[in-house]
Amino acid sequence: MNKAIHAVAISGSLRRASTNSGLLRCAKENLPEGMTLEILDISELPFYNADKDKENRTPAVANVLSRIETADALVLACPEYNYSIAPALKNAIDWASREPDNRILNGKPVAIMGSGGGMGTSRAQYHLRQVCVFVNLLPLNKPEIFANAFTGGFDAEGNVIDPKYKESIAKQMVALRDWAARLSS
Ligand SMILES: Cc1cc2nc3c(=O)[nH]c(=O)nc-3n(C[C@H](O)[C@H](O)[C@H](O)COP(=O)(O)O)c2cc1C
Repeated sequence: MNKAIHAVAISGSLRRASTNSGLLRCAKENLPEGMTLEILDISELPFYNADKDKENRTPAVANVLSRIETADALVLACPEYNYSIAPALKNAIDWASREPDNRILNGKPVAIMGSGGGMGTSRAQYHLRQVCVFVNLLPLNKPEIFANAFTGGFDAEGNVIDPKYKESIAKQMVALRDWAARLSS
């Protein structure tokens, strides 16, 4: 048996009852054998400002960056704000991209999912895939997960209750585990 794949997950929504955070909890509860997942808290990250690159490296920033650096893979839950990536998620990626030689993100496998309106965050997810090109994150192509936050798939706390979403997320985690193993072999 290969070494377990350790992934870290980031939700782009800071809302307490976020459905995107709910997708990540669902992923954590439905992991395949040979995989672990830690959900990071990005709510304390300051907005990246190149003038304050050093002074803004708070313990919260250092913790998020070190967790990403040591992870074998990322899972990004990508809300759609005004047809694009929610700023909290983009900001976390921006912080991680500022390390010398892009060493934190370079070549890391990533799974992308999202919950939003009728298009299921697809527009934002394709913007995120474009960002992945520049920072050389390596996204899993399929399965894609486009959840609807407003049609009964989640409870009032943002937990996934739709069994179809649970099934898709479980399949995506298997695919991410295998994608990460393939890239590291
Ligand atoms: C500023 C803002 C812009 C939004 N724009 C979009 C949008 O372009 N497309 C969409 O599907 N939903 C949009 N929404 C709705 C969010 O998808 C919805 O609030 C979703 O539940 C957010 O994810 P969360 O439950 O994880 O917080 C927007 C919400 C906010 C707050």
